[in-house]
Amino acid sequence: MLNRRQFLALGVTVGGAAALPFSQLIPADANEAEPIHKGYHLGKRTSGTGVRPAVTAFTEQMPVPPTVQAAQSAGGMDIYMIPIRASTAEFIPGKQTPVLTYAGSFVGPTIRAKTGRPVKVVYANQLDQPANVHLHGGHVPAASDGHPMDVIQPGQTRVYDYPNLQQGATLWYHDHSHHTEAEHVYRGLHGFYLIEDEAEQGLGLPSGQYDVPIMLRDAEFDKDGGLIFFDDPANRTTILANGKIQPFFPVAARKYRIRLLNASNEHVFQLNLGGQEMVQIASDIGLLPAPVPLTELVLASAQRAEIVIDFSRFAVGTKVVLSNGSEPVLRFDVVRKALDLSRLPATLRPLPPLPTATAEREVAMSFDLSSSSPVGLVNGKPYDPNRVDFQIKRGTTEIWNVINADNVEGVDIDHTFHMHMTHFRVLDRDGGKPPLPQDAGLKDTVRVPPRSRVRVQASFPDYLGKYVYHCHYLEHSSLGMMAQMEIVP
Ligand code: C2O
Ligand code: CU
Repeated sequence: MLNRRQFLALGVTVGGAAALPFSQLIPADANEAEPIHKGYHLGKRTSGTGVRPAVTAFTEQMPVPPTVQAAQSAGGMDIYMIPIRASTAEFIPGKQTPVLTYAGSFVGPTIRAKTGRPVKVVYANQLDQPANVHLHGGHVPAASDGHPMDVIQPGQTRVYDYPNLQQGATLWYHDHSHHTEAEHVYRGLHGFYLIEDEAEQGLGLPSGQYDVPIMLRDAEFDKDGGLIFFDDPANRTTILANGKIQPFFPVAARKYRIRLLNASNEHVFQLNLGGQEMVQIASDIGLLPAPVPLTELVLASAQRAEIVIDFSRFAVGTKVVLSNGSEPVLRFDVVRKALDLSRLPATLRPLPPLPTATAEREVAMSFDLSSSSPVGLVNGKPYDPNRVDFQIKRGTTEIWNVINADNVEGVDIDHTFHMHMTHFRVLDRDGGKPPLPQDAGLKDTVRVPPRSRVRVQASFPDYLGKYVYHCHYLEHSSLGMMAQMEIVP
């Protein structure tokens, strides 16, 4: 039987009707005396007693994260300065919650980039602990990738170069410091990075104030409003939309482009508008070939999906609730009529043809549960920064067979799979079954449910060097479920 700490680490769900409640699986003497992994901790260690925040639904307006202004724009590039610092956020009215931030806000400032126009970001680490920045979904040189061992020491600054030689997409940036990424991201080191390209602009999709990034993520609060980190991720039952608990968002009766990001460490959202239609136009790495109407959108940790919602179907005064399953997350209030010159074209962006693969590999993710502290494994080994797991020749394209290799009877352990630097297509699942709707388009993160496998194809056209790939349940990767590839000439 798994012990308490193992459960805390895994965020597992116990399958079957005979499953005991989580609390009964915890031996009384096994308490949260030791952290499940080493690292730095912010402020006091919270006790693990979660309290449902007393917030009246739909009383606060959802903010849109501010777009950061360039400190300098010269020579065809934009330079941004972003401090990494501790701050507070008001999740619960009247309570200030300590958080870690990019530039002071719980949802970091949005960087808006253009394809072909380089961006430099100067990050100044004002924390008392190492931190760094990974551009998730970015196709960037290894030196700017935010490799887990490549951190910014306290008091230091670091320049990251983003060439933006990729098509338009909703990316995000977050901490990736070794062993501390899970806690850092949980406490707020996350923000949007949006790339737009010309072809996309020409489509006439909703833009400007009608193009709204929304970061969805979970959290667990203690009675003082503090964020509880050392607990079962399943207890993170409060969902934040751009850092607010069940906010409302006033909209005009017209089309909106909504960029959804699941920034939870470990959570799969099942998003719906109570049966109303939404139209998916993009996944992780940008536009789909054509719009896909749907009534439910499944979004796992780190994944993005862009949807168009046409509020002109609704009379002014209508309230449309976005829910996760049956739990309301955010309410759109249709407050006014508006002229709408935007379009939703029948075709968006064709997918590039899949080249013939030059190699096939297996990647098995699992936990070693034999000791009291679980260890995350990829192909049987925990992450070792001094080891190169796969050497890959530049210019190749490969099929990776990604396997959820955990097989504990009666316990379902979910995983996701994310690759740095490159993007992939999902080819099939479970030995030839077609991909799921949420696998469509160009991806960088795919869900690998219990006892399943998924084949993906990725290309390695240009950059050399070391990049990681890992489970994007961040507690899993910080426990070792990560490995490293080196692209060589
Ligand atoms: Cu979103 Cu390796 O990370
Ligand atoms: Cu995992």
